[in-house]
Amino acid sequence: MTKEELLKEMDQMRKSMKRLQKSEASCKEAADLFRKREQEYREMVELANSIILRMDTSGRIVFVNDFALRFFGFSKEEIVGKNLIGTIVPKMESSGRDLAAFMVSVCRNPGEHTVNENENIKKDGSRVWILWTNRPVLDERGRLAEIICIGNDVTQKKEAEQILQNAHDELEKEVRERTKKLQKLNEDLLFEMAERKISEEALKESENRYRNIVESAFEGIFQTTLEGKCTMVNSALVALLGYSSAEEYIAATARPENLYVDASRREELIRILQTDGYVKGFETEFYRKDGSKLPVSMNVRAVFDDRGNFIYYQGTVIDISAGITLRRVLDETTGALSTAVEIRDPYTAGHQERVTRLAEAIAAEMNFSDERISAVHTAGMLHDIGKIYVPAEFLSRPGKITDNEYNILKQHAQEGYEILKSIEYKYPIAEIVYQHHERINGSGYPRKLSGDRILIEARIISVADVVEAMASPRPYRPALGIDKALDEIRKNRGILYDENVVDACLTLFQDKGFQFGGGGGGGVTGFDATAGKEQPRNRSVSQDWSETIFKGRP
Ligand SMILES: [Fe+2]
Repeated sequence: MTKEELLKEMDQMRKSMKRLQKSEASCKEAADLFRKREQEYREMVELANSIILRMDTSGRIVFVNDFALRFFGFSKEEIVGKNLIGTIVPKMESSGRDLAAFMVSVCRNPGEHTVNENENIKKDGSRVWILWTNRPVLDERGRLAEIICIGNDVTQKKEAEQILQNAHDELEKEVRERTKKLQKLNEDLLFEMAERKISEEALKESENRYRNIVESAFEGIFQTTLEGKCTMVNSALVALLGYSSAEEYIAATARPENLYVDASRREELIRILQTDGYVKGFETEFYRKDGSKLPVSMNVRAVFDDRGNFIYYQGTVIDISAGITLRRVLDETTGALSTAVEIRDPYTAGHQERVTRLAEAIAAEMNFSDERISAVHTAGMLHDIGKIYVPAEFLSRPGKITDNEYNILKQHAQEGYEILKSIEYKYPIAEIVYQHHERINGSGYPRKLSGDRILIEARIISVADVVEAMASPRPYRPALGIDKALDEIRKNRGILYDENVVDACLTLFQDKGFQFGGGGGGGVTGFDATAGKEQPRNRSVSQDWSETIFKGRP
């Protein structure tokens, strides 16, 4: 090697030395920087307020930061090198999720589980929820070496979520139950509405039916308040009183003096209703719209609700003007028939009328209704109507009648019945006449009825008949006098004559000054001087004094 060559090589070596020195300085510089950076990272990891750990692909923990140790309560020795399943991750989550299997998946494919939230366990056994961020760490050949996991405690958030979830579940449950209840209510309501509709229709139908009945009734129907204000009236009553509409009727009758002819009758009606709650056959007079008067008969009753509260008065009204005319005709006919008998038997003229007066007075004394007194009147006036069949010659012939004639005479009770039976009376007038000679003990005629089988009206007429017969003079004997007549019924009280009837009759004569008065063949006080020539025959208790009219004659 030449000197030049050696110098050149030495120069080359110096240059290489310089480059080496420079490279060494550079390396030192890089190593310093690396150490500095590592220090920075280490401090950053150690000081972080998050859990940072590294694990290998089998789940073995290779690094944990201080925060993680403090958080889980382990020392580094207790945890590093251990599998995270069984240390900080339970095998099963409280929810039932298989965390061991899940962690296997995370370790194999961390890229698919970059974020996950799962339950973790501390050393003391308490469970916490952690939100993990996972990142794969590759080796120099690009293969998965480790997984870096950064976790944050989300237990409170999870608990809040759970509370929220619970509240939500509770709310949903409540909503479901409420909805169910509402549905049930709705169904019930629909059912009730359907039922109500049915019952409303039924009510409507019944109301229509009722209205039809009320409207088609021949008799007047009304409802009034307690004070008497009309609230309902049917067409029949509107027409009966000559009004053109219910409204007109209601407006006009708001003033009672526009309806009642006699204000005291209205007061009487109210008095009876307040005492008895109802009244039947109450007769009064109403004004018609044109001012004419209409006799009417009313049935009225108070209507109460289920709790006994008064609702209204309801009543019916019938026109009795025809009835009053008929009654007058009947009275006139009765009078005429009565007269017809007495014309054939002048000796007993006025007998039926006087018997009737006494019988009516007894009936009134016994508190009979006006209608029943009226029946007693008619029966009294006709009780001897059957005598029309008794041959006139032995009614007018002087002298004593034979037994045979007496038997014919007795038939007048049945004959009277035969005459009257086909006439339609409200009361059994024919039957009363038939029974007027029956006696309480069955000794009477023609059917020998006894006790209660004899109508009370017949029992009254029989007493009146006997008293009148004995008290009045006869052409063949003087009057026996009222005292003897009263003795007769007193003596046979309860035997021949009804006890109550006798008592009423005695009260009339003894306490109330009843007198037959004059008229006919002479009354109690009108004794005929021609009448004293014959004395009545002696009679036993059972003798029938009412027949002295006939049998007493010589
Ligand atoms: Fe008679």
